[in-house]
Amino acid sequence: MLTKLCQRLNRKKSTIGIIGLGYVGVPLALRFSEVGYKVLGLDIDSDKVCALNSGQSYIEHISANSIQCANTAGFESSTDFTRAAEADALIVCVPTPLNRYREPDLSYVTGAVDLILPYMRSGQILSLESTTYPGTTDELILPRIQSRGFIVGQDYFLVYSPEREDPGNQNFQTRTIPKICGGYSSHCLTVGIALYEQVIDRVVPVSSTRAAELTKLLENIHRAVNIGLVNEMKIVADKMGIDIHEVIHAAATKPFGFVPYYPGPGLGGHCIPIDPFYLTWKAREYGVHTRFIELAGEVNSGMPDYVIGKVIDALNQSRRSVSGSKVLVLGVAYKKNVDDMRESPSLVLMGKLLKLGASVDYSDPHVPVLHPGHEHAFEMKSVTLHPDMVANYDLVLLATDHVKFDYTMIAQFAKMIVDTRGVYLQPLPHIVKA
Ligand SMILES: NC(=O)c1ccc[n+]([C@@H]2O[C@H](COP(=O)([O-])OP(=O)(O)OC[C@H]3O[C@@H](n4cnc5c(N)ncnc54)[C@H](O)[C@@H]3O)[C@@H](O)[C@H]2O)c1
Repeated sequence: MLTKLCQRLNRKKSTIGIIGLGYVGVPLALRFSEVGYKVLGLDIDSDKVCALNSGQSYIEHISANSIQCANTAGFESSTDFTRAAEADALIVCVPTPLNRYREPDLSYVTGAVDLILPYMRSGQILSLESTTYPGTTDELILPRIQSRGFIVGQDYFLVYSPEREDPGNQNFQTRTIPKICGGYSSHCLTVGIALYEQVIDRVVPVSSTRAAELTKLLENIHRAVNIGLVNEMKIVADKMGIDIHEVIHAAATKPFGFVPYYPGPGLGGHCIPIDPFYLTWKAREYGVHTRFIELAGEVNSGMPDYVIGKVIDALNQSRRSVSGSKVLVLGVAYKKNVDDMRESPSLVLMGKLLKLGASVDYSDPHVPVLHPGHEHAFEMKSVTLHPDMVANYDLVLLATDHVKFDYTMIAQFAKMIVDTRGVYLQPLPHIVKA
């Protein structure tokens, strides 16, 4: 079984099933298709399935052309989970959010596995790519596969291989980002390597699924903690009258032992604000309190209030209150040059400004409209920037530093700017750094 499956994978004779066609699943599907595999995408969202089958992209940085090329090569998407039986490999890329008590919500993972479970067959490999706490693969997925009577490691193979996708990053593609892979057993790992080594330049094996799960969390916790540190440094530097961005640029000239992180209005995205708390929750089972994670979370989640304080101070300079002021928020995506608004601090800022009585508009070339969702209730359209319009606002709040903004024009015509991203390096009387 092991040899046969590895041969099928190595010869690209196999069908790859991607479950969850979002920011992670679509690029992965395109990459498997590009190298010659037959790819079947499965998702519960029929709108996404229809869009992909008709060659349309719903992710800004993925071109419709790349989807059309994959479709021509045989990529198809479906909501029919019985078709999981057609795949030799099933790769699960579904969301792993936190619930309302900020605890791991694995219902998407278990829901997806339960949907394909009746159609699993011997000789398949299942790879979980969703970010999660150590033990998920062994504790939640393994028993489900075993409930079908399969002997995992002999007639069914199970690995955990975290996704490291960085949407919008032009320097890396799916192929060039090394892929961690941990198997339930050594046979599982062998098949996992055979699955990924055809599409990824470097596969990095680790000894277990738990080691692979913790590797991904370490990467994201490292980021969350360091962003928390630099956000705290920003507050201290500001009190001392020092520009934190100047300091970071200077420190980054050290050729060893320093990695630059940049402060901002808070943490956003589906990963960094969420993933660390997967470990916090699991660590409790072992009687361990994850203090760095909690502290970074506290600092990072306090940043929107810090920014609002700066907005209040800035308006005060021109004898205005937030209530009744017209504020333009630049950028609602959580980071520059992407269209992803999940957990975006801009939305938190807009909510706080509205609550304080401001009249709020936003401009974001990547997000033309805001529809109410579970994170916010805004129904708004992005305004197009031009000098008269910029001059009409009492304050411009620069929340996300997209390269498409005309920063020179904004600085020339805005009455007051609060810059949370360090875009404006030169001190100007109407620009407040936050
Ligand atoms: N977005 C990133 O940059 C990124 C990077 C690395 C890792 N991750 C991790 O990858 C995972 C997926 O993230 P994403 O950003 O691609 O999410 P996403 O929301 O963009 O996509 C998830 C997809 O899964 C589908 N889905 C939900 N339940 C399903 C089910 N039961 N069966 C089939 N499909 C289902 C949704 O309809 C959606 O299309 C998460 O665990 C995330 O933490 C994301």
